[in-house]
Amino acid sequence: MLDLLLTGARLAGSGEVRDLGVRDGVLVSPEPEAREVIALGGALVTPPLVEPHIHLDAVLTEGQPRPNLSGSLFEGIAIWGERVKSLTIEDVKARVRQVLRWQLANGVQHVRSHVDVCDPHLRALRALVQLREEIGDQIGLQLVAFPQQGVLSFPGGQELMRRAVALGADVIGGIPHFELTREMGVDSVKFAFALAAEHGLRVDIHCDETDDDHSRFVEVMAAETLRLGLEGRVTASHTTAMHSYNNAYAYRVINNVARARMHMVTNPLDNSVLQGRFDSYPVRRGHTRIKELMAAGVNVCIGHDSVMDPWYPLGYGDPLQAAFVLAHYGHMSGAEELKRLLEMITVNPARALGLPDYGLETGGPASLVVYDAPGEVDAVRLIPRRRLVLRRGRVVARTEPARTTVIWDGREEPVDFLPVHGSPASGG
Ligand code: FE2
Repeated sequence: MLDLLLTGARLAGSGEVRDLGVRDGVLVSPEPEAREVIALGGALVTPPLVEPHIHLDAVLTEGQPRPNLSGSLFEGIAIWGERVKSLTIEDVKARVRQVLRWQLANGVQHVRSHVDVCDPHLRALRALVQLREEIGDQIGLQLVAFPQQGVLSFPGGQELMRRAVALGADVIGGIPHFELTREMGVDSVKFAFALAAEHGLRVDIHCDETDDDHSRFVEVMAAETLRLGLEGRVTASHTTAMHSYNNAYAYRVINNVARARMHMVTNPLDNSVLQGRFDSYPVRRGHTRIKELMAAGVNVCIGHDSVMDPWYPLGYGDPLQAAFVLAHYGHMSGAEELKRLLEMITVNPARALGLPDYGLETGGPASLVVYDAPGEVDAVRLIPRRRLVLRRGRVVARTEPARTTVIWDGREEPVDFLPVHGSPASGG
């Protein structure tokens, strides 16, 4: 007897429609007898969504203590510097609990959060470490020690990073382009890698998040990865300066990133509004070179980055929104490219985070997401609600999708926004 039988699941990737059995939290072959049966009717099913880059400590602080009037990265950093002074453990926990619930409702089951450690009291990190304990296995949480104001340019920055590791940070971060000089930026990358190697931790650095084509710290990350043998354990986030590099230099650095088996995270929501702020027309897009990185075999992921904070006032924690924006800003509207967007919020970030037991294999954990849409292209196009989110065989989120009708020629008819009722869009 199965605990649960899901009928008519359309699997992402193959598009195959089949039934899925669940017993003791594990995916098993379907059997006729089940305690509960849920008919999916050809709905798209993926493994859990994975959020590889968010700043949970800053969520829901938009407008505090003042709104970001210019909308720029640097005004955002200044406002956040003021807000940090009034942080309390309970303030952070309350906001993060709220957004984690939003993420789970969206199907996100693994989250890597950068946490600002430029606070002598490390209040945000203490709050996140406590919360990681309190939420248990409801959602996976990795915490990055992130020096928002710099490691070498902030008083006691190196010591704060070491204290963050002692407190329980899982990953070492950095922000070399924000250090006072090029040399300090290079030293900050070397400091982060040495700290990670010493403690057996992974690295995830905010790197070259600027339109300055002279910001070239990704090359230092690749060199340190190779020197210390950290291949596969290092992520470079944002890397927007790559957009502005000359093609010869970009070619060289992308090859080195591939050789170092680094992971890349692009953050289309924030960077589509933060970059190009100093340009007169034409205004640059300021995204990293996504297609070129992928063509070189680099694992590229999509991050959400911000939810209603000083840098980005919008969002509700749904990776599909970020994928939708990247389809436009990354010129990823080709049929095969649209399908890859789903991989960039599921399997790709699962690799970057080093998640074990990830996927929809028989014998693996029954953790999955059911969409109110039949295919991958429809998921990106419609950003549908998640009908069902399963974690280790248990339903952890459920949405009753809205149903729409129109009155046409005097008759009420259903509208589902699909080209042919119930069928996926082409390529989906
Ligand atoms: Fe970020």
